[in-house]
Amino acid sequence: MVRPTLGLAAAVSDYKITPGPGRARLKGGGGSNTDVWAYDGDVPGPVIRLRQGKPARIVVENRLQEDTTVHWHGIRLPNAMDGVPGLTQPPIKPGERFVYEFTPPDAGTFWYHPHANSLQQLGRGLAGALVVEEAEPVPADRDVVWVLGDWRLDSDGNIAPGFGNRMEAAMSGRVGNTVTLNGTLPGDQNVRAGERIRLRLVNTSLARIMALRFEGHRPVIVAVDGQPCDPHEPEGGRLLLAPAMRLDLIVDMQGEPGRRYAVIDDYYDGLAYDLTSFAYAGQAPLRKNPLDAPMRLPRNPLPEPDLQSAKRHELALQGGMPSMGNMTGGGKMQGMGGMSGGTGGMAHGRAIWSINGTSMTGDGHADMLPLVTLMRDSSHVVTMRNETAWWHPMHLHGFSFRVLSRNGVPVPHNQWADTVLLAPKDTVEVAFVADNPGDWMLHCHVTDHQTAGLMTVLRVT
Ligand code: C2O
Ligand code: CU
Ligand code: CU
Repeated sequence: MVRPTLGLAAAVSDYKITPGPGRARLKGGGGSNTDVWAYDGDVPGPVIRLRQGKPARIVVENRLQEDTTVHWHGIRLPNAMDGVPGLTQPPIKPGERFVYEFTPPDAGTFWYHPHANSLQQLGRGLAGALVVEEAEPVPADRDVVWVLGDWRLDSDGNIAPGFGNRMEAAMSGRVGNTVTLNGTLPGDQNVRAGERIRLRLVNTSLARIMALRFEGHRPVIVAVDGQPCDPHEPEGGRLLLAPAMRLDLIVDMQGEPGRRYAVIDDYYDGLAYDLTSFAYAGQAPLRKNPLDAPMRLPRNPLPEPDLQSAKRHELALQGGMPSMGNMTGGGKMQGMGGMSGGTGGMAHGRAIWSINGTSMTGDGHADMLPLVTLMRDSSHVVTMRNETAWWHPMHLHGFSFRVLSRNGVPVPHNQWADTVLLAPKDTVEVAFVADNPGDWMLHCHVTDHQTAGLMTVLRVT
């Protein structure tokens, strides 16, 4: 049997990234370049590869015209390295630099993005994948990262204005009209019959939720938000991926040589589209039968919460438009092309959403008083109740939590996450050990919702 081992890629521990102006090819037709904000001039930013348990040092040099920070989404790191302006560090001023140093305890698929003026900085292109490699990766022929992005372009291919539109902020947030894969309009993905691909999906959208189906294939989920789970096929064959969420898949390419198979996103009812296609080479299959090798990823050193002694907390998510008939439930929304640039009306500073009746707005600043204080090293169960008519991918900095239940039903497959998606009226229970001291953000990762109040701070002391 051929047992491929992916050699450890060129994981180095020293990086420098430079946020600043850049150009991207977001429109078809070869030509038109779009002005973006980018790490190292490119969207997405470079894939940063680190090694589990090995110290990393990343210099960020700000060449934007405004303050920025970098948040290492999903990495359990010291609070001072978390990248929240005001709360965990002073913002990085134009022309200045900041050195992030941390040792990633967990292997997995993570990502990085600014935590300052997030609507524009993320919405204009500042995002990149961060892969922490296992000491011994699972056998696969290729390790592939798909950074998925969503843009709202005007008819000239420029990024449309209107960030922070209040109407949108009270509904689904700024969903765009152009989806990219690794920074360009996705063409075919060339594959060979019989190969096994480890596919890392990262949704860097401001607001777009995706539900991917792989025609003719049976992807197996092996990690959620970087954290290994029991390998399983997604329910109904749909890979649900809300903003900030990641999925690691093992895909055995069992299609026929020479054929094409669509990858379809059908999250929004009536707006299904082909994201990309697997295009098979004409070559004979690499192997006859799927690789007979384990898919289970090695465990990360996550502390197991003690549910007996755990303290319980309730967070009620509130606010937004009461409902919009055709825009709730199954994820329906207006036609993608029908979303205009909006009328302006910045949401910053004015709350539309709240958690337990309180609203923190913006991206992070000094004197955000914690909603709850957790004793260090104790176990906690947090129940989040979505009282709104909208979907919310709720994200906690600094921790991965075990997802215990959804609407009273235990969540299968041993899933841990840092971002959990709540459908309208959903109740979700998560649990974790508060082993990481500091002030940690908890917010919706639909950026319009976050900046308009769906955010709070947990303090661990
Ligand atoms: Cu991707 Cu405050 O997080
Ligand atoms: Cu985060
Ligand atoms: Cu939300």
